[in-house]
Amino acid sequence: MNGRHTQRGLRFQAEMLHRSRIPWDSLMKNHLLALGAFTRPELQRLIDRALTLKAEGKAGVRHQQLAGRKICLLFEKPSTRTRVSFEAAMYGLGGQVIFMSAKESQLGRGEPLKDTARVLSRYVDAIVVRTFGQEVVEELARYATVPVINALTDLHHPCQVLSDLMTVIEEKGELSELQTVWIGDGNNMANSWIEAASVFGFPLTLACPAGFDPNGVILEQARARSPRPIEVLRDPAAAIRGADVINVDVWASMGQEAEQEKRLGLFKSYQLNSDLLARAGKGAIVLHCLPAHRGEEITEEVLEGPQSVVFDQAENKMHIHAAILESFITGAK
Ligand code: CP
Ligand code: NVA
Repeated sequence: MNGRHTQRGLRFQAEMLHRSRIPWDSLMKNHLLALGAFTRPELQRLIDRALTLKAEGKAGVRHQQLAGRKICLLFEKPSTRTRVSFEAAMYGLGGQVIFMSAKESQLGRGEPLKDTARVLSRYVDAIVVRTFGQEVVEELARYATVPVINALTDLHHPCQVLSDLMTVIEEKGELSELQTVWIGDGNNMANSWIEAASVFGFPLTLACPAGFDPNGVILEQARARSPRPIEVLRDPAAAIRGADVINVDVWASMGQEAEQEKRLGLFKSYQLNSDLLARAGKGAIVLHCLPAHRGEEITEEVLEGPQSVVFDQAENKMHIHAAILESFITGAK
């Protein structure tokens, strides 16, 4: 791939779209781009369906409701869990998967997103996208005639947070009265947790270092909608007091590798270790979407400890993805 083509690739297109942003509309519900577009019953239904599919899978039930259907995974960033769990979910429902690395597609050589969206819509029943800009998934959704599912952007990771919520419900039964906490970078995961808090109405406290707050617009909109407080503090010890659910994530997300060293210093006091965890509520559970950097945002002891539910969280990605694919492809909402 030569330099000229690389420059005209996906990141360049995202920048151009950002500059000429068209207001978003109600089409959003045909796609899963961010949790804030949905109501509590809509998201609860997906989680309930995922719990049913999980139970049925363990009881040996084999599903075929997506037989003859196909999805395309269009990924511009690395992935282990999201890719394999989407693929496993689709095969588990009788469907088939085509994986395409964005870099190796014509997008990497500057083909417009709007053309890509319309072409892929002629081949497959849904497009699952992992990329940098939220504008990219929005532009694909605007032109696709099939559902577009956000499998992580710099701004949101909605499918991950749905599997997190499913895990919390499995562990704790109900969400509304739980004290939930986010410790660390105000990143894509934090933004999706903020939207989830506003939709489900549970209280959320974030502890982020100065300069690493979550997205201001998302925060403002979520606060306006939420019946419960969504607070941003600086002190992780104050934030974690009495917490039932504790969330951590890497300090430098994909695309921020150049800042890794600087962030290690700035985030040091935000590590989830046994001392910090001891300040949480009795029976608090620890979530991490993985991959984890042991010794950075979380210690080995906490990650492997009895309060950690990270591998259930990882498993639940497959079940929630099955529920998402079934619902968005068949239109069962
Ligand atoms: N949690 C998550 O999205 O993991 P991957 O980057 O491995 O998909
Ligand atoms: N915030 C992380 C999540 C990885 C699943 C990232 O974007 O890299």
